[in-house]
Amino acid sequence: MTDLTVPQQLIARSNRLGSDPKNTNYAGGNTSAKGTETDPVTGQPVELVWVKGSGGDLGTLKEAGLAVLRLDRMRALVDVYPGIEREDEMVAAFDYCLHGKGGAAPSIDTAMHGLVDAAHVDHLHPDSGIAIATAADGEALTSKIYGDKVVWVPWRRPGFQLGLDIAAIKEKNPQAVGCILGGHGITAWGDTSDEAEANSLWIIDTAAAYIAENSKAEPFGPALDGYGALPEAERRAKAAALAGTIRGIASKDRPMVGHFSDADVVLDFLAAAEHPRLAALGTSCPDHFLRTKVKPLVLDLPASASVEDSIARLKELHEAYREDYQGYYDRNATADSPAIRGADPLIVLVPGVGMFSFGKDKQTARVAGEFYTNAINVMRGAEGLSTYAPIDEAEKFRIEYWALEEAKLQRMPKPKPMASRIAFITGAAGGIGKATAKKLAAEGACVVIADLDLAKAQAAAAEIGGADVALGVAADVSDEVAVQAAIDAAVLAFGGIDLVVNNAGLSLSKSLLDTTGEDFDLQHRVMAKGSFLVSKAAATVMIAQEMGGDIIYISSKNSVFAGPNNIAYSATKANQAHQVRLLAAELGAHGIKVNGVNPDGVVQGSGIFASGWGANRAAVYGVEEKDLGKFYAQRTILKKEVLPEHIANAVFVLCGPEMTHTTGLHVPVDAGVAAAFLR
Ligand SMILES: NC(=O)c1ccc[n+]([C@@H]2O[C@H](COP(=O)([O-])OP(=O)(O)OC[C@H]3O[C@@H](n4cnc5c(N)ncnc54)[C@H](O)[C@@H]3O)[C@@H](O)[C@H]2O)c1
Ligand SMILES: [Zn+2]
Repeated sequence: MTDLTVPQQLIARSNRLGSDPKNTNYAGGNTSAKGTETDPVTGQPVELVWVKGSGGDLGTLKEAGLAVLRLDRMRALVDVYPGIEREDEMVAAFDYCLHGKGGAAPSIDTAMHGLVDAAHVDHLHPDSGIAIATAADGEALTSKIYGDKVVWVPWRRPGFQLGLDIAAIKEKNPQAVGCILGGHGITAWGDTSDEAEANSLWIIDTAAAYIAENSKAEPFGPALDGYGALPEAERRAKAAALAGTIRGIASKDRPMVGHFSDADVVLDFLAAAEHPRLAALGTSCPDHFLRTKVKPLVLDLPASASVEDSIARLKELHEAYREDYQGYYDRNATADSPAIRGADPLIVLVPGVGMFSFGKDKQTARVAGEFYTNAINVMRGAEGLSTYAPIDEAEKFRIEYWALEEAKLQRMPKPKPMASRIAFITGAAGGIGKATAKKLAAEGACVVIADLDLAKAQAAAAEIGGADVALGVAADVSDEVAVQAAIDAAVLAFGGIDLVVNNAGLSLSKSLLDTTGEDFDLQHRVMAKGSFLVSKAAATVMIAQEMGGDIIYISSKNSVFAGPNNIAYSATKANQAHQVRLLAAELGAHGIKVNGVNPDGVVQGSGIFASGWGANRAAVYGVEEKDLGKFYAQRTILKKEVLPEHIANAVFVLCGPEMTHTTGLHVPVDAGVAAAFLR
């Protein structure tokens, strides 16, 4: 340990603390260390503070995530501090304290770290500590649990003044190792990195042990009749059936990606009598409001309520939620508050089923769910010992609509064109489907790769991205039950579906006389019926979402061109092509566009060509199989070979942000084949 530099020690400690969820929530809290280095300008020693910068997570913090400030200049800020009304100005002043360039932007909590007179400081958001911090008698509990080793600091919004408060408390209480910040979290310190870490862990673990020993038996009250968890298969099915409606509710103002959790923590909370009162009190820790909104929408029906009744009630509750949120905004906003950011819930709780959480992308949605799970843990601890008493509404509003937070949001990069969209692509383990999934994911979509072989679907998903981007599922598209299961899996993974690509296919090249009845059925089962089943199951979700959507069919040149030896394949491709027109006409009322792509001659990467079709076509055209791509290129008008990526690009254009007013269209992507021109 001792051979590590000061910032290396800080990173190691931060990673250890941040990787255990009992110590702090995702991206919550910050740590610091003070030390001396040689100033390259003067050659003299200079005192510095390394402090976790704005953004990022302690568990994965690296040196680049630290802000490095000069302590003499930081301390000098105390003399120019204009008072609490203008404390936000001090964040900009931190930039004038930076030592060298690079490093992260100093966060709002920098003052606490710089001003507290201790070499190492940890500020954390542990569930156990926040339970004490949000208990109605948190101050009394703090002294009961910790004696004079931990000091109570009444709620104050994070900022320069809170830093001054904590510095003063540390000075007045030399015996103290840290404090409980009312309504918020904990801060601990030490002369060495190990000492600070030990003090942090001692505060966290002592609170947890005290809660475990002293909590009342049923902190959330007695079980509520009929609100217990449904059996797993039943609750997953109900969650999937409700997901589209719930995503639509969360997305009225702007489209959201969803995350579903049926963890015991959530189900137990919803099964107990006090959950409506507690949920209405809202969360407390300052990190929460942007992520979860002040409070969730809670369905007030028992687990046994039918899907239809649940949907009807959710819609009523949504209206009430929006009015309530608007009221909260109107009551608290001042002339210079940022504009309202949308009035839809980010957390929706369904008794017996679980929690739906939402965000602009999957990671944000998942973390919102983690945060609400933190909030449940906090409420359990606080109610177990006392009464849960979060900070008041006006303070919550000040944090949610803080000018500094708004500025952070404004600095976020512009979202990618397919951000927040969820695509379901069949036959996407390889060939055109995989290229399409790759393209849509690269443009910001979440993608679900459905194919016959689970391992191959998962391998393709892993190639494209982690679980927040791509999911592989097994589905034979000709099997109605399997299709529904795959759609359900997609909906539970990402909250809903916006975009379907009917791409799964296989190809037999046979003359009429050689084509068996089973050949004919197989081609039609997979392509005509398969895409019908997928469109139907996905449209059910899209219609419930009321967010529009896209269905794209990968048809074929052969849907219009009468090539040789192709009766079964081309007939079912023509069937798919007409599904495009039929569904475009039928689904337009729901804002769902239906279009198709007619590829031709995509040899590279195509499983269809590799598995016999290529050899057969080559024989039909009298060329060698390896030259088939070039052969196809030569018979095109543009004399270009068509690759899977070209089909993927056409799919992106058809469902992307530019092509908003086109439905019922087929786009040939064949480098120009006059015989297949559409008319
Ligand atoms: N390659 C071309 O030149 C060309 C031309 C016109 C149309 N198409 C069409 O493009 C689509 C993709 O073809 P490709 O060339 O990428 O072929 P490919 O064989 O590489 O991909 C087809 C995928 O569909 C999957 N699949 C087959 N049956 C399935 C089923 N019942 N359920 C789920 N998945 C199933 C396969 O496992 C495979 O991963 C097909 O519909 C094909 O007819 C291809
Ligand atoms: Zn904090």
